Amino acid sequence: MMLPKVELHLHLEGAAPPAFIRGLAAERHIDIGRVFDERGGYAFTDFWHFLKVYEAATSVLTTPGDYRRLTRAVLAESAASGVIYTEAFLSPDFCGGRDLSAWRDYLAAIREAAEEAERQEGIVMRGIVTPIRHFGPEKARETAICAVETAGDWLVGFGLAGDEKSGNPKDFSWAFDAAREAGLRLTCHAGEWGGPQSVRDAIRDLRVERIGHGVRAIEDLALVDEIAERGTVLEVCPGSNVALGLYPSFRAHPIHRLRERGVKVTVSTDDPPFFHTTMEREYALLAEAFDWDDGVFGVIARTSAEAAFCTEETRKKLLKILEKAHA
Ligand code: ADE
Ligand code: ZN
Repeated sequence: MMLPKVELHLHLEGAAPPAFIRGLAAERHIDIGRVFDERGGYAFTDFWHFLKVYEAATSVLTTPGDYRRLTRAVLAESAASGVIYTEAFLSPDFCGGRDLSAWRDYLAAIREAAEEAERQEGIVMRGIVTPIRHFGPEKARETAICAVETAGDWLVGFGLAGDEKSGNPKDFSWAFDAAREAGLRLTCHAGEWGGPQSVRDAIRDLRVERIGHGVRAIEDLALVDEIAERGTVLEVCPGSNVALGLYPSFRAHPIHRLRERGVKVTVSTDDPPFFHTTMEREYALLAEAFDWDDGVFGVIARTSAEAAFCTEETRKKLLKILEKAHA
């Protein structure tokens, strides 16, 4: 039987099936340049090229209706991999250019698709607004206003994605302070392309409770111990890290060492079709690399449910499903 899974780190546009983007580009007669390889998958050479290809692919999504269709397609894929709950990163930058009224329309369309998926496939989705770091702090401020105005039981978190080498976490403290005051829960990409100091800065300057990736904390064991003590949760995406060349293989990935040292690790896919992965594949490759059994995956799924930014009522439902599957 397929294990139920809880995913905390998924970029909505990054989860777009390539055929979906290709079809939309053809429909709209939009030339997005060299985005695909000869086999029809996304083509990129490194992380920075990946970000360019990501933005080119995203440029074909131009209406709330596109995002409704996208959300539906993405959630169907996730549900097929056993995902019962997913938190997706949503960017007002791509959804209406940070215009609040447009953002409300995009968000309504995404929620509508999510509600349909929940009715039909049982998968629950919640949203996390993420400014894009390399677009700069001023745009992040506008993005934070979109997040604050739409915060609630569905739009539950605020994060930061994009090029970790661009600027410093503290440049974004206005946006994170506004989000925190609005009751949004906080996460930040760090410790993927930046080292341990980048993780330290995100924790200290943005006061986040989760870190996107965070895996390079392993380069400083005092930091690993601090993360474990604080209970900061890492949204680890092993397949993404391997596909982007951060580690040569699953076996070389630090997730096992982080876990053994007491860090709360969770497992997600990041941008699954870009990295030719799914939650089912991540679980299978982790099982193979580290000899993890269903008991370990049960702990990981429970850690994820406990760290989810949803209401307590939703969390209880998730924990119940997990408890039943692992009884
Ligand atoms: N946007 C989409 N995927 C990302 C990643 N892995 N790191 C930073 N920004 C991203
Ligand atoms: Zn990510």
